[in-house]
Amino acid sequence: MDCFLLTLLFIVLQTLVSVGYGSSHINACRSFCGNLTIDYPFTLQIGCGHPGFRELLFCINDVLMFHISSGSYRVLDIDYTYQFLVLDDPHMSTCDAMVLQGRGNGFVVEEWRAPYLNPTPENMFMLLKCSPESPLFQGFPGKHLPCQNVSGMSCQEYFGCPAWGMFGPKHVGLRPRLGPLECCALPFEAIKAVNLSKLDCQGYSSAYSLAPLRVAGPGEWSYGIQVKYSVQGKETFCQTCGATGGSCGYDIEQNSDLCMCGSWNSTSNCDTVHSASGRRKWSLMVAIAGFMICKAISRYPTKN
Ligand SMILES: *[C@@H]1O[C@H](CO)[C@@H](O)[C@H](O)[C@H]1NC(C)=O
Ligand SMILES: *[C@@H]1O[C@H](CO)[C@@H](O)[C@H](O)[C@H]1NC(C)=O
Ligand SMILES: *[C@@H]1O[C@H](CO)[C@@H](O)[C@H](O)[C@H]1NC(C)=O
Ligand SMILES: *[C@@H]1O[C@H](CO)[C@@H](O)[C@H](O)[C@H]1NC(C)=O
Repeated sequence: MDCFLLTLLFIVLQTLVSVGYGSSHINACRSFCGNLTIDYPFTLQIGCGHPGFRELLFCINDVLMFHISSGSYRVLDIDYTYQFLVLDDPHMSTCDAMVLQGRGNGFVVEEWRAPYLNPTPENMFMLLKCSPESPLFQGFPGKHLPCQNVSGMSCQEYFGCPAWGMFGPKHVGLRPRLGPLECCALPFEAIKAVNLSKLDCQGYSSAYSLAPLRVAGPGEWSYGIQVKYSVQGKETFCQTCGATGGSCGYDIEQNSDLCMCGSWNSTSNCDTVHSASGRRKWSLMVAIAGFMICKAISRYPTKN
C-alpha cells in the first residue's frame, strides 16, 4: 500500500479513537433517578458535585429522596435554570387533608448547609394549631402577630379547604385567649426554621406560587416546599471544568476543588497535561515518523 494512504488511514483512526475518548469522560457525575436528572451541584456519588450538597440526595427504588436534619422528603422536581427544588412531605397538610399531632417534618437544615438551601420568598408556610405559648407569639403583644399573607396566599383562603371540614376553623383571624391559634402563615425568612415541636404547633402546610401565575384558590395552590439552592464561589472553576469535558467534584479529604476527567482527576480542568490538543500533536508526530519510516523501507526493492 502507498505510504501516504497508510498514514492518512492512521490519522483518521487516531481521530476516531480520541473523539471516543473525549466523550467517554463527559459528565461522569451526572445520573438519573426515576425521571429526574441529577447534575451539578447535586449528586448521588461521593466526591461529585458541590460539598454543600453532599449526603443530601438518595435514590430509593427510582424515588429521589432529600434528607436534612428535620427528616426525609420526596423530590418532585429540580429546576436547574432557576435553581430550586420542590419537595413533598407526606405528613404535610394540604387542601384535602389535615395532618396533626406534630407528625410533619417541618423544615430545618443543618447549620453548615444553611447557606446553600433556603425555601424561596414565594413559599408560604402555614403553621397549624399552635399553642398560645408558642415562641411564634413571644414579643408580639396583643393581636399583633407575625403572621402575614405570602405571595397572595393566606390562611383566610386556606380555611375554605375541605381539610377544615364543614364548619371551618374555630377562631378565624383572631388570636385566641386559651385555645390554639388555628393558622399562621409566614415566609421562611421570618422564622429561619420550621420546627413543629419547638414552635409548639400541631401541623403545617406549605404552598408556593408559580409567579407570575396568580391561581384562583387554595384548591389550586401548588403544595410542597420550594427550596432555592445556591452555589457560592465555584462557578468559574466548574464552568471551565465542564467546558473541557469534565465533571465538577471535590477532594473528600481536603475539601478542595477537583475536575473529574474520567480516567484521571485534575485540580484545574481536563485540558491540562492529558489535553486533547496535546494528544493530537503527539499523534501527528507518530504519523509523520511512520510516513518517513514507510518511505525509507519502500526504497528497497521488494520481490514482486
Ligand atoms: C416524572 O414522573 C412523575 C410520576 O412518577 C410525574 O408525575 C412527573 O410529571 C414526571 N416529570 C417529568 C418532568 O416528566
Ligand atoms: C477522582 O476523585 C474522586 C473523588 O474524590 C475519587 O472518588 C476518584 O477515585 C478519583 N479518581 C481517580 C482516577 O483518582
Ligand atoms: C426541634 O426542636 C426540638 C425542641 O427544641 C429539638 O429537640 C430538636 O432537635 C429540633 N429539631 C431539629 C431538626 O432541629
Ligand atoms: C390577606 O388576604 C386576605 C384574603 O385572602 C385578605 O382578606 C386580608 O386582608 C389580607 N391581609 C393582608 C395583611 O394583606
